[in-house]
Amino acid sequence: MMRSFFLYLSASRAARRFLMELPFAKRVSRRFVAGETLAEALDTTVALNAKGMTVSLDLLGESVHNEAEAKAATDAVIDMLEQMDRRGVQAYASLKLTALGLDVSEDLCVLNMRRVLTRAKELGRFVRLDMEGTPYTARTLQIFRTLRHEYAFDNVGVVIQSYLRRSEADMRELAAEGAAVRLVKGAYKEPPDLAFPDKADVDANFVKLLELYLADDARAAGAKLAVASHDEQMIAATRRYADAHHIGADAFEFQMLYGVRSALQESLVAEGYQMRVYVPYGTEWYPYYMRRLAERPANVWFIAKNFLRG
Ligand code: FDA
Repeated sequence: MMRSFFLYLSASRAARRFLMELPFAKRVSRRFVAGETLAEALDTTVALNAKGMTVSLDLLGESVHNEAEAKAATDAVIDMLEQMDRRGVQAYASLKLTALGLDVSEDLCVLNMRRVLTRAKELGRFVRLDMEGTPYTARTLQIFRTLRHEYAFDNVGVVIQSYLRRSEADMRELAAEGAAVRLVKGAYKEPPDLAFPDKADVDANFVKLLELYLADDARAAGAKLAVASHDEQMIAATRRYADAHHIGADAFEFQMLYGVRSALQESLVAEGYQMRVYVPYGTEWYPYYMRRLAERPANVWFIAKNFLRG
């Protein structure tokens, strides 16, 4: 119920206008967002690097509706990669294809991605394509493959969501192709014919998919896995499988969101695991923030406390 409500709010323009205007909105956004500027995000990155964690930087912003906006977003990602290089941080970029023009045209989106990946390659950096809702799943995978196979970029990875029924088939194909995959549960509102409605099925599928991606044949093909979850059961399942099959901690990485379960992030680093923190920044924090509330409605108390503080 609450999940659906927050996912509804995440897409509502009226709610967005109202909530972003509240006087304490910016302060509250800092719970999950590193700041509005790249400089602030890089300061956060430096601090996380000092704790032994790498970072995935995400300039917030989703679907754009014309070529000029898509170009501006592309330029901003390139600027982000260049500033990462200048500051010498251990980080890569994450982005959404709709921010680079996927809703305008696929050709435009591929063109913009080629610019991003060419510059990233020159700088020795990697770029992750976040996965959005199901209207974009097939197109995101298609563009990912075009970039890898037609344009020979090896510095790009994709995301697979364990709540989708199609994901096992996608993971098997990506494993055979030796692709870099971030495995997540999935953050959008999807119909039951496309996504498992029960959490138990989403979790069971997550474990099945991580095991098939860590298997010998997948790793031999070059497949690289990032296990992106705050769920201790998913982390335990990864560790169990890796231990049982003598897979070293350098063969995969854990990923978590900025502001979520920081103590667990630190304890995994202390145990020798690789941890990458997803750090979003920018002025367009509203839909991202609402998806985080949908995952854990208890976070609303944090807003309520700020509301009372005025
Ligand atoms: P689950 O939701 O079962 O939560 C397990 C436990 O973690 C909770 O009980 C709680 O303790 C804690 N927790 C989880 N979320 C929290 C929150 N917001 N605040 C506080 N505590 C919280 N999705 C997507 O569709 N496309 C994408 O590209 C990405 N990318 C991505 C990158 C990274 C690095 C992460 C970690 C996640 C994503 N996601 C995503 C989001 C993902 O799909 C999912 O919605 C969240 O990670 C929550 O699922 P968990 O696996 O953490 O488990």
